[in-house]
Amino acid sequence: MSAAFTLSLSGRMALVTGAGTGIGRAIALAFAQAGASVVVNHWGRAALAGELAREIEDTGARAWVVEADVSQAGDVVRMAEQVQRTCGPVDVLVNNAGIIQEKPFLQTTEEDWDRMLSTDLKSVFLMSRAFLPAMVARQRGVIINMASDLAVLGRAHYAPYCAAKAGVIGITRSLAREFAPAIRINAIAPGPVNTAMVSPESMSPEWMARELDIPQHRIAEPQEIAATALFLASDSSRFYCGQVLGPNGGSVMA
Ligand SMILES: NC(=O)c1ccc[n+]([C@@H]2O[C@H](COP(=O)([O-])OP(=O)(O)OC[C@H]3O[C@@H](n4cnc5c(N)ncnc54)[C@H](O)[C@@H]3O)[C@@H](O)[C@H]2O)c1
Repeated sequence: MSAAFTLSLSGRMALVTGAGTGIGRAIALAFAQAGASVVVNHWGRAALAGELAREIEDTGARAWVVEADVSQAGDVVRMAEQVQRTCGPVDVLVNNAGIIQEKPFLQTTEEDWDRMLSTDLKSVFLMSRAFLPAMVARQRGVIINMASDLAVLGRAHYAPYCAAKAGVIGITRSLAREFAPAIRINAIAPGPVNTAMVSPESMSPEWMARELDIPQHRIAEPQEIAATALFLASDSSRFYCGQVLGPNGGSVMA
């Protein structure tokens, strides 16, 4: 067993989906600073992903950029094959990519539902299916799935998002049971975070006001979520299995 307490990821290979922006970007940087090599997945964010890879390399860590739509099986299979062939086996997979949409339920179309569920939930299935076989073969690996406090709270005008994120918690717990003890699978359910997802451009003033109505009266910085991801990726969390950690400012207390 490794040292009692360490946040080092030295010698580990991590892949973070949707890493070009926001929380994914902060996680990728935190992992690199902890010594990991990082595969930066993005979809249509080549410039931002390239900038991030350069920042990662400035820390002395290795970085690769791989474009893939994580909601598409073909893209995910291609990415898994490419990453495992050119970068090596993935020790830490962070299923972070996601989208959100604010819409009254009775205006929500089947297309809205399918897009949200494909990007926020099916992607976790596809990525896990693509990367777990190599983890099983090596009998080691960590998967971290990005849920949301809204999975528990629910929110008017966000039914597909809340359903998808509740599904993320369900698949996390199921896979954690199926692949323990060698592979540790946990989730993070953040409260509101200062990214493009929570901004006046994408949210109504009512939604923004509700986001601030939590005990800590502020939204988190992406680095505060990355700290939780770093803990879950590290050996310090080795007894965590199927857990949902909540850096949420008190929005959910469980
Ligand atoms: N910001 C918040 O308040 C908050 C709260 C709880 C959970 N989350 C979750 O955190 C995760 C990151 O969100 P964020 O806040 O950093 O927002 P963000 O919009 O900055 O990041 C999401 C990233 O996912 C990428 N992405 C979207 N669809 C993709 C696809 N099909 N394939 C690959 N990449 C794709 C986007 O390009 C973007 O880079 C999401 O899963 C989100 O649901 C965010």
